[in-house]
Amino acid sequence: TSFNLLLLPGDGIGTEIMAEVKRVIDWFGARGVASFEYEHDLVGGSAYDAHGKAVSEATMAKALAADAVIFGAVGGPKWDGVPYDVRPEAALLRLRKDLALFANLRPAICYPALADASSLKRELVEGLDILIVRELTGGVYFGEPKEIVTLENGQKRAVDTQLYTSPEIERIARVAFDLARARNKRVASAEKRNVMKSGVLWNQIVTRVGKEEYADVALEHVLADNCAMQLVRRPKQYDVIVTDNLFGDILSDVAAMLTGSLGMLPSASLGAPDATTGRRKALYEPVHGSAPDIAGKGIANPIAMIASFGMALRYSFGLVAEADLLDRAIAGVLAKGLRTADIATAGTTPCGTTAMGDAIIAE
Ligand code: NAI
Ligand code: MG
Repeated sequence: TSFNLLLLPGDGIGTEIMAEVKRVIDWFGARGVASFEYEHDLVGGSAYDAHGKAVSEATMAKALAADAVIFGAVGGPKWDGVPYDVRPEAALLRLRKDLALFANLRPAICYPALADASSLKRELVEGLDILIVRELTGGVYFGEPKEIVTLENGQKRAVDTQLYTSPEIERIARVAFDLARARNKRVASAEKRNVMKSGVLWNQIVTRVGKEEYADVALEHVLADNCAMQLVRRPKQYDVIVTDNLFGDILSDVAAMLTGSLGMLPSASLGAPDATTGRRKALYEPVHGSAPDIAGKGIANPIAMIASFGMALRYSFGLVAEADLLDRAIAGVLAKGLRTADIATAGTTPCGTTAMGDAIIAE
């Protein structure tokens, strides 16, 4: 099989960490696992400098045609003054919207070797492996009306609208249940049905989809605020958590801090399956940004970026054994004590971006 990738390194450390991913892709390609064809393009500030837009129409066409987009990071102080609609970060919003990437997957994995870097005690996080599935294209971030109005008495009123339709909830529920089937067959659905109508509908639809289509998967409902508390109290009780756009934003950041460094966290954003091929549009990216403070120094941690490609192996290419192999290589390198500066412990000498890439490939 042949897969066609669009690599968008972006700005800052984006180019440095993408160089390591390319070597990993080539490693798998050279072993005949699959044929990976890839093309590069500009995105973010570098694209703005070249064509005055954070993502060009030609790049968008390539992204729409690709089997997966592998995205680095965008932004930096150089572009702080550019107009809002062409700022580097606008590229990601455009990609998410045009590729209709409604499902955001954020794993929170705590490697035993890094458990002491967690915000929690080692015993609470060691071996943690949870997956947060966040609805990404609906809810209060997009619902209309969305405005600030001045009332007759001079006061102001701000309105955001939390809006979900049943098909939007059904499709994100199916993504979560499908993922759970390939893991430990447990889903926790987080909403606030006690105070929000959208929470009532969310609860009803997820319950129905679970009962009718995924009777083999255990479903639990949890109020989103309680979920935040439980993530900090006893995170290993969860496996897959499915939730809406706003709660997912918050819960995934809470989960991120359980695992240690920002430089370790991958993510995937998936669209609907194509009617004929069954393949989903997808974009894979690290959770972190372009880290202007360390850009150009060769010290960025490439693991979040490499693990994002691992998610592409797993979720876009169906290469599960290869994805597992890559995860084991990352865990193995960490177990041997290799650390980039962001995850280094006192008394150890940190390695650079390329040395970390070398070590993962060797492992
Ligand atoms: P950031 O994630 O770029 O950096 C936060 C801190 O974490 C910095 O101290 C940085 O050095 C460190 N860090 C991040 N990734 C690292 C890695 N792989 N290895 C080692 N250390 C790492 O967030 P910040 O500073 O708030 O934003 C910088 C720029 O990135 C801004 O222009 C922002 O808009 C943009 N950004 C872009 C995102 C994206 O492309 N998806 C996401 C978040 C921010
Ligand atoms: Mg956030």
